Amino acid sequence: MASGFFLLVLLALSASHALASDPGQLQDFCIADRTSQVFVNGFACKDPKTALVEDFFFSGLHMAGNTSNKQGSAVTAVNVAQIAGLNTLGISLARVDYAPYGQNPPHIHPRATEILTVLEGSLYVGFITSNPENKLFSKVLNKGDVFVFPQGLIHFQFNYGTNKAIAIAALSSKNPGVITIANTVFGSNPSISGDILAKAFQVDKKMVDHIHAQF
Ligand SMILES: *[C@@H]1O[C@H](CO)[C@@H](O)[C@H](O)[C@H]1NC(C)=O
Repeated sequence: MASGFFLLVLLALSASHALASDPGQLQDFCIADRTSQVFVNGFACKDPKTALVEDFFFSGLHMAGNTSNKQGSAVTAVNVAQIAGLNTLGISLARVDYAPYGQNPPHIHPRATEILTVLEGSLYVGFITSNPENKLFSKVLNKGDVFVFPQGLIHFQFNYGTNKAIAIAALSSKNPGVITIANTVFGSNPSISGDILAKAFQVDKKMVDHIHAQF
């Protein structure tokens, strides 16, 4: 009896550990109803009888993003914002284009692990583990190579080559979210006090003001 109870507790524990993703399905699908006034964790479902094939469809990833920007990269996201039928399914993807020497700057996906495949070119990629180790795991990827960025860790990709590069990233959330480190820390609205950032980064406040001005 006691060992049976122990087994149940173990099962319950392992089951809760297995839920490290978006919620499991209780029906075939739950197409996001973006007009709903009901606020839930995710989007309310539209009436499944009104489901259309377009609710599961997106076209456009054959087109390169515009990399004429300061970072020299463009992310074309395909998540629940583009495909309503992804709601609650725990998956999404993105195409990333990189100009020569362009980069997808250090950022976090708060809700997703990412698995990235290089379609064209070479990328220097990496992620950094949490405190206190802050260990960098980095590698040069070539066409066909695949790399994993664990959920919530700071990661980046840099185009190593003189040619453009293209990658496809799959993410374990319908809505992975992005926190770009530089933009969020130095470009928040309203700004974080320069004194706080000067102390955090151990630099002169003038330096912080200079960086603030870039965002
Ligand atoms: C790409 O972005 C740049 C900068 O915003 C803009 O000047 C240019 O017209 C865009 N090119 C295309 C093809 O949209």
